[in-house]
Amino acid sequence: MSYHFETDEDYAHKLDQEDPLARFRQRFYIPGNTIYMDGNSLGLLSKDAENSTLKRLNEWKTQAIKGWLQPEHPWFYLAEELGAKCARLVGAQPEEVVATGTTTINIHALAHTFYQPFGKRTKILADELNFPSDIYALNSLIRLRGLNPQENLILTPSKDGRTLDENKIIELMTDEVALVFLSSVLYRSGQLLDIHRLTEEAHKHSIPIGFDCSHSVGIVPHDFDEWQTDFALWCSYKYLNGGPGATAFLYVNKKHFQLEPALPGWFGYQKDKQFNMALNFEHAQNAGGWQISSPAILSSAPLEGALSIILEAGIQQIREKSVKMTSYLVYLVDELLSKPPYDYTIGTPREPQRRGGHVAIEHSKADTIIQELIRKGIVPDYRPPNIIRTAPASLYTKYHEIWQMIDTLKQAINPVT
Ligand SMILES: Cc1ncc(COP(=O)(O)O)c(C=O)c1O
Repeated sequence: MSYHFETDEDYAHKLDQEDPLARFRQRFYIPGNTIYMDGNSLGLLSKDAENSTLKRLNEWKTQAIKGWLQPEHPWFYLAEELGAKCARLVGAQPEEVVATGTTTINIHALAHTFYQPFGKRTKILADELNFPSDIYALNSLIRLRGLNPQENLILTPSKDGRTLDENKIIELMTDEVALVFLSSVLYRSGQLLDIHRLTEEAHKHSIPIGFDCSHSVGIVPHDFDEWQTDFALWCSYKYLNGGPGATAFLYVNKKHFQLEPALPGWFGYQKDKQFNMALNFEHAQNAGGWQISSPAILSSAPLEGALSIILEAGIQQIREKSVKMTSYLVYLVDELLSKPPYDYTIGTPREPQRRGGHVAIEHSKADTIIQELIRKGIVPDYRPPNIIRTAPASLYTKYHEIWQMIDTLKQAINPVT
C-alpha cells in the first residue's frame, strides 16, 4: 500500500471530499469545537447508540421486570445477540462471541480456564509492553495455582521499549510454556502483532494462545476462526464506541466449548435450564458459558446501535480509511515536523500492516505540547514521558483535522506571530 500525499491544506480538504465514509460523521456527537483524536481511549457517542440506550431505558421504565423476557429483543438474550453481531467483525461463528463482563474480568475468566499447568509446562508467556491490568491478572493466576510468578511469568523483552519482535516471542514458546497471552495492538506504540502467525507457532508447540484485542477490534479486521486462535477478549469503549465502561466481549473457539469455565456463574448456565436453579453447574456449550453474572443491560444497550454503524460502514472499509489516515499523519510528521527546531519522531511501526489505529508521536517536551493542543481544542492523549497518542477514527475524523493537529504541533514549538 503506497500513497502519494501533499502537505498543503487544500490537499487535506480534497482527501475529505473523496472519502467514501465521510457521511458517517454526522451520526456522531463531536464535543463542541474540538478535534477529537482520542477514539482509541474512549470512542464518541453516536445517535444510533443513544437511541438504542434510550430504548432500553424506556423498557425498564415501562416494563420493569418483564423486560427480561417481554420486549422484541428480551434482555435475557441480549449478551448472546450482541455477541453474534460482534462475531461478524472478528471472523467468528455467532455462538463463539458473547458480550459480557469487562476486559480484565474476561482475562481472569479465560486465562484461568486455558492455563492448565502440568509437569514441567507451568509458564505463561506474555510481554513487557503489555497493559498493566493484563499482567496483574496473569501474576495472580500463577499465584492461585500455588506457583511463583517470578519463575513462571515470562515477559518477552522489547529492544527499543516500543515494539516487540515476533521472532523473539516465538523463540520463547518452549515446552515449559502452558499458555501464551498477548495484546493484538500494543497500547503505547500501536504495533499490531501478527495474530495468525503467532497462533500457528504456539500450536506447533501445543500451547493454547489468547489475545487482548481491546486496541484492534472495530478498527482492524480479525479472522479468529481462520486463524484458529483459542480465545480472545476486548473492551468496547474504544473503537467500538460503546461508551465509558461498556460491556466487554469474549471469544472462545468452538473446539473448546466443552472446557469447564474456571470462574462459573449462573448466567453461564445452559439457558433453557438456568431457572431450574440446580446446584451442579452445567455450562452453556458456547461462549455464553463464560458469562458470570446478570448481564449489565444499560452498559450493553449502546452497543446495539454502535455495532450497527460499524457493520453498515464495513470493517474492511474502516481499516482502509484508518490506514490511509495514519499514513497521512506519519507523512505530515515526516515532512513538516521531523527536522529542527521541531524534532518530532514517530514511535509506531511505519509499515501499515504492522500498526493498529493510533500513531504515537514522540517528543521530549510532550507534556507541555499536550497542554497547548488541549488549549487549542485538540483532544489526543498523553502517555508519559514522551508520547502524544493520536487516533484518527474512520467514522468521524476528517483528514483536515489531522492537518490542523499537525499545524498546531508545529506552532507549539515555533508559534507564528
Ligand atoms: C489493552 C488493555 N487491556 C486492559 C485494559 C483494562 O480494561 P478494563 O478497565 O476494561 O478492565 C485496557 C484499558 O484501557 C487496555 O487498553
